[in-house]
Amino acid sequence: MTLRISVIGTNYLGATHAAGMAEFGHHVIGVDIDDDRVKILNAGQSHIYEVGLEPLLEQHTASGRLRFTTDYTAVADWADVHFLALGTPSGPDGAADLSQLHAAVDALGPLLTRPTLVVGKSTVPVGTAVALEQRLRRLAPAGDGVEIAWNPEFLREASAVEDTLRPDRLVFGTHSAPALHLLEEVYAIPLTDRTPVVRCDLATAELIKVAANAFLATKISFINAMAQMCQAAGGDVTLLADAIGYDKRIGRDFLNAGLGFGGGCLPKDIAALAVRADELGVHVLGNLIHAVEAINDGQRAEVAELAIAQAGGDVHGLTVAVLGASYKPGTDDTRNSPALTVAELLHARGAQVRVFDPQARLPTRDGFTQVASVEEALRDADITLHLTEWPEFRQLDPVELGTLVRHKVIIDGRLKLHVPSWTDAGWKLVQIGRAATL
Ligand code: UDX
Repeated sequence: MTLRISVIGTNYLGATHAAGMAEFGHHVIGVDIDDDRVKILNAGQSHIYEVGLEPLLEQHTASGRLRFTTDYTAVADWADVHFLALGTPSGPDGAADLSQLHAAVDALGPLLTRPTLVVGKSTVPVGTAVALEQRLRRLAPAGDGVEIAWNPEFLREASAVEDTLRPDRLVFGTHSAPALHLLEEVYAIPLTDRTPVVRCDLATAELIKVAANAFLATKISFINAMAQMCQAAGGDVTLLADAIGYDKRIGRDFLNAGLGFGGGCLPKDIAALAVRADELGVHVLGNLIHAVEAINDGQRAEVAELAIAQAGGDVHGLTVAVLGASYKPGTDDTRNSPALTVAELLHARGAQVRVFDPQARLPTRDGFTQVASVEEALRDADITLHLTEWPEFRQLDPVELGTLVRHKVIIDGRLKLHVPSWTDAGWKLVQIGRAATL
């Protein structure tokens, strides 16, 4: 059955969700307070770099099934279901800042004159859904006819469209049978493809999302701690990860050691979980997360120190080439990027840092320049760092690049470069998590 769906908030999550809902056959209106973004999206274009998103936007805005507006009155009583896809950034103490969600609910609530379902997709501290429902019911003329459900989103940047159209699982957190039934209609297409569904209460749905993120972050920090062991003891963390990954109970995914995790989600979501755990007196969880965060921060400092050590303890006045600025390959997103933290640490120690990234664009600052090619970054460089594992960096020709630099020294912060190719070309290659300086 075709439904009328509104998606409130149209950044990474909301824009992809709105396009995905249209692809599932529904009529969709995306709502955002940003007039410029609404104009871009209505033109069938994407304001973010995300594989496969623009073709969907183009197709469904052209067919009339998808449009965007800044006007809540266009969706309030029109939609069968309202999705909340607002950002929940970190507040000053690490707690989630819910102001965007509150503003959206405050704008929508007074316009809801008929019973309706409002479904949260954002990552939130447990307890938020119930509080939002009370807030909505106080504001809405439809009162208790307004119901909240929670349907967390697990999409990853760089594969957001694929994750939305073919999710690993769906989570429906509801407290009524009609709400559950409506969600099953919204997701009729993935459900016919036998996508697993977990039907649960609101608190479990909220916690599932943060638990998934915390577990992924823990896996990464665990392998990075093992990388430090390998470095201290003479082992190889990649072989170690391969070997333990063959155990089906462990799995090889998210066991790539290196600079650790960044981006707009994992760091902020686990910080918010730690704050909420401490609020609820569950200090063991808060302590676990703080250990995961400390390992993650330490990796960035460790890579910067490796570079400084290669320069004989001082990078002041040296030219440093940095390959990669986005927090992971396949995206232009530089939020909480490990690569940029390392670049900033070296810049703070007096190095002239030149950064190249295939997609990310950075504001220019003194001594920290973005350049348009790998060659430009490496010309006369004293040290090169490979910090975001874009596939094109693995295709580079170390022989040719060796003719550009002042010193053939490269730090591989992502353990992805082909060691013999670089060493055969006369480079000194230093990898985090490997004992030997090759
Ligand atoms: C993450 C979750 O995967 C997703 O389910 C959630 O909805 C949002 O947060 P995302 O931030 O897009 O998604 O990226 P992801 O691919 O999970 O990578 C997160 C970070 O971990 C990146 O910085 C990546 O470089 C790092 N990472 C990942 C590692 O350091 N090692 C690994 O083995 C895997």
